[in-house]
Amino acid sequence: MILKIRTYGDPVLREKVPITDSHEVVLPYIMDMIETMYDDDGIGLSANQVGLRERFFVIGMNAFEDGRGDSIFINPEILEFSDELWDYEEGCLSVPGIRELVIRPLTIKVKYFDDKGKEHEEVLTDLAARVFQHEFDHLNGIFFVDRISPIRRRLNKKKLRALAEKHTLKQNLIM
Ligand code: NI
Repeated sequence: MILKIRTYGDPVLREKVPITDSHEVVLPYIMDMIETMYDDDGIGLSANQVGLRERFFVIGMNAFEDGRGDSIFINPEILEFSDELWDYEEGCLSVPGIRELVIRPLTIKVKYFDDKGKEHEEVLTDLAARVFQHEFDHLNGIFFVDRISPIRRRLNKKKLRALAEKHTLKQNLIM
């Protein structure tokens, strides 16, 4: 089932999502989240983007170079960031119509639980690290557009305001 994606301006996306009690809580949502992510050509999707107050996200297999499939990251943590940075043009399913360069650490050391409740600690780099950081930000109420340069933010101000207004308008039309 395709889930409704919350967009910029929706207050749920500005909340810090609390820790998830158990991996079992998220199991019923995983298939729908992966389906929703691919339906919109995404490579990652966090639970709060579909209105769930659970601390996890999914990342599509194309972000990884080690052949793992679509993956689930529950209660993720970032333990270390590399000093080396790189910029890459990011987009977001919750911020349609905007793509901007974001500077982030190239490599990160992370910790999380998988969908079987098993704890993992590993090093991610390149695209996998990029998507992990983008989704991790979502769980803390942060958008990639919060991380772009002030001048690029100013240039996108109108678009962002329009997105927020569109969200409010949609809310008002629900009867
Ligand atoms: Ni996003």
